[in-house]
Amino acid sequence: MAGAWRLGWLLVPLLATLGAPLPGTVVRLNKAALNYVSDISKAPLQRALKVTVPDFLDQNGEVLQSSRFQVLDVRVPHLHLKFIAGFGVRLLATANFTVRVFGVREALELGLPVVLLADVHVAQDSIGTLVLGIATCSARFRLASVLNGSNRTSPVQLALAQKHIKAVLNNKLCLLISGLVQDLNVHLGTLIGLTPVGPESQIRYSMTTAPTITGDYMSLDVSAVLYLLGVPIHLPFHDASPFMLPWAVGNRSAMVNVGLSQHVFESVLLLLQKAGSLNLDITGQLNSEDNTLNTSVMGRLIPEVARQFPEPMPVVLKVQLGTTPTVTLRANNATLRLQPFVEVLVASSNSAFQTLFSLDVVVNLSLQLSVSEAKLRGTTSVLGGVQVSVASSNVGSIDMDQMHTLTGNVFQKALLDHLNALLGMGIALPSVLNLHYAHPEVLVCEGYVVISSGLSYQR
Ligand SMILES: *[C@@H]1O[C@H](CO)[C@@H](O)[C@H](O)[C@H]1NC(C)=O
Ligand SMILES: *[C@@H]1O[C@H](CO)[C@@H](O)[C@H](O)[C@H]1NC(C)=O
Ligand SMILES: *[C@@H]1O[C@H](CO)[C@@H](O)[C@H](O)[C@H]1NC(C)=O
Ligand SMILES: *[C@@H]1O[C@H](CO)[C@@H](O)[C@H](O)[C@H]1NC(C)=O
Ligand SMILES: *[C@@H]1O[C@H](CO)[C@@H](O)[C@H](O)[C@H]1NC(C)=O
Ligand SMILES: *[C@@H]1O[C@H](CO)[C@@H](O)[C@H](O)[C@H]1NC(C)=O
Ligand SMILES: *[C@@H]1O[C@H](CO)[C@@H](O)[C@H](O)[C@H]1NC(C)=O
Repeated sequence: MAGAWRLGWLLVPLLATLGAPLPGTVVRLNKAALNYVSDISKAPLQRALKVTVPDFLDQNGEVLQSSRFQVLDVRVPHLHLKFIAGFGVRLLATANFTVRVFGVREALELGLPVVLLADVHVAQDSIGTLVLGIATCSARFRLASVLNGSNRTSPVQLALAQKHIKAVLNNKLCLLISGLVQDLNVHLGTLIGLTPVGPESQIRYSMTTAPTITGDYMSLDVSAVLYLLGVPIHLPFHDASPFMLPWAVGNRSAMVNVGLSQHVFESVLLLLQKAGSLNLDITGQLNSEDNTLNTSVMGRLIPEVARQFPEPMPVVLKVQLGTTPTVTLRANNATLRLQPFVEVLVASSNSAFQTLFSLDVVVNLSLQLSVSEAKLRGTTSVLGGVQVSVASSNVGSIDMDQMHTLTGNVFQKALLDHLNALLGMGIALPSVLNLHYAHPEVLVCEGYVVISSGLSYQR
């Protein structure tokens, strides 16, 4: 907890620059996404439509007749969703009801096809999630057919039974669809859930404006707010302009194209840097394979080290990132530039550390991006060489050429392992509960990254 407080204070200058979160992310859902939703919605709609039909009392002449009804089966052979530009989504479904009617004399089965038509308005609600509302809904009944009965069923009785079923369904069907839409809204609300970015940091997406809907797609402007130890961080990039994802970019046949602006990457790196997650200590142990440095090997190059440490002692490297790494996104090429400050220390006898010297390092990394489990993950490798210069020295002058080879290997491997572990955790992409990215492809463009993907809903 003490650590948390310290970090909290470090954040104060960041919090002072609070501003409206910028929409750095665009989620564009294409027709293929609607087709997928249609496919997976048939079964739930079918289940929901299996309503109960109350008994019917009919004053037939002097006799009071009663009929019982049972919906045996509902089939939804056809469900189609399409975008309505500037408004939302139109639902067109055909449902086939099979109803058994228990009359006074005998039972019969009716087949009743119904066409359901609903226009659903798609908007943004106050908490930044997508919200759907039924604007219009109607049920049109087609002619019922007698599936199983006998010729003795009187046409009057048949007409009465149909009239009763229609009246009941007419009231219920649109209410049922409205109920399904409400359930969907609860589900869509999970967009704004917090998901981890680093060990102590999290990301939360929310919509910043109403969705843009055309006949071909629905586009959502989403902003990412980053949290460090539960505190929201708004990042100080004043010159950043709202991000637009060009229509021609990405795969239009894919269900979804998600564009992440450079701003998102910069923010995440700033957060990881401020949280200290990018820093690392390369500990020393004699005869260790991970860190082959010790005072005896260094003493051969630096006489002062040999003089101060006649006995071999382990050497520790303390790597700190005082400046935020920069990310550069060019066509098919993502690079990172890190400028770590490396302190070279010796653990002296009384377990205190003694600084030998410190180095300013510049390293360019190539960044490979991939998506798995709805997270954008990164892997880095060193691009070109590592540039090292002495920042300060307590052991006199240092021949950097030789020291470079000595520290370079130790430092480079440890830094890459550390970064790859961290970036491998990934940034959660915008999603809702149980919705997964299927066969995602990552495309790096000038100033942004696009993920073209299918979607898969799995409970
Ligand atoms: C609906 O049910 C009727 C009667 O069972 C049948 O003739 C018709 O083909 C069905 N329609 C569809 C689209 O399944
Ligand atoms: C017709 O309905 C009766 C009673 O509801 C049932 O016993 C019978 O199996 C049905 N026949 C067919 C062909 O569906
Ligand atoms: C119904 O009536 C028709 C002709 O009126 C007849 O051919 C048919 O066999 C009858 N069906 C039953 C189930 O009684
Ligand atoms: C675009 O997405 C579709 C559907 O997922 C896929 O079949 C196609 O191969 C993709 N095209 C490219 C160029 O990746
Ligand atoms: C010191 O480092 C050198 C070079 O890595 C190694 O050969 C030697 O065994 C090390 N000495 C000790 C005591 O670890
Ligand atoms: C990416 O760009 C850097 C320079 O910014 C270059 O050194 C590197 O070779 C490029 N990588 C690819 C795969 O083109
Ligand atoms: C890193 O990249 C920058 C810009 O692409 C270049 O000027 C610099 O020389 C590179 N540094 C190293 C150590 O490769």
